[in-house]
Amino acid sequence: MVRAMPELHVLPTPEEAAQAAASFVANLADKSVSTEGRFTIALSGGTTPRHLYEILASSPHAERTAWDGWHIFWGDERCVPTGHNDSNFRMAREALLERVSIPPSQIHRMRGEIDPEKAADEYEIVLRDVFKTPTPSFDLILLGIGEDGHTASLFPGTQVLKEQSRLVVAYWVRHLEAHRITFTLPLINAAKTVAFLVTERSKGGVVKQALDPKPQTPEIPAAMVRPTSGAVHWFLTGGAAIQLRDEA
Ligand code: 6PG
Repeated sequence: MVRAMPELHVLPTPEEAAQAAASFVANLADKSVSTEGRFTIALSGGTTPRHLYEILASSPHAERTAWDGWHIFWGDERCVPTGHNDSNFRMAREALLERVSIPPSQIHRMRGEIDPEKAADEYEIVLRDVFKTPTPSFDLILLGIGEDGHTASLFPGTQVLKEQSRLVVAYWVRHLEAHRITFTLPLINAAKTVAFLVTERSKGGVVKQALDPKPQTPEIPAAMVRPTSGAVHWFLTGGAAIQLRDEA
């Protein structure tokens, strides 16, 4: 199986990178809704995607998007209540969900406020119920990357990177001294499309490693995102892509 090469979208500024990513998401969503009747998307967390979500909730996307066809999920969540500053659900609710009309029954949050293992198990049931398949194939999974190469809540050197059957797991992240709930690589790699948004120059090295893993470098999770048949897009600022140009 020949996997598609990642498609790079390099923009001069974080604003332009977020705008390009928003247009990409909106166009993909409209295509999915018109051809499949729905658009299944897993949101990424952290800070970078907030502005992407705000752009989607603003003109022209807000009035032109078929929001009633969207089914919202999260690729990972912190184990905190929904009102907590660290909650990925809270960030998306403020930036997007409170401002557009997605049917509440189509917003599927990971319940970070309950026992992590229980939350992961119940989320896996939700996924299988909504997708009606053993391994759901999302129309789009949005991802970010940490400076250590983590993506979603898949951190370097953790057992979760070896998970081959479960779709969602919860585990104790030692260096964070916190539990996380996360999609596993089999679920991410079953997606039709994956899109990374990276706007920080400080991540230039790890972006390069993710796009061009060298055998001797330790496994970085973002480099393990290799959809079986799906497309991978990277929306990058010039700063985040700077080390890619060294090769060119
Ligand atoms: C999370 C994210 C995580 C994020 C990276 C980058 O829950 O933190 O899902 O994978 O994408 O940590 O985060 P920033 O955008 O805040 O740099």
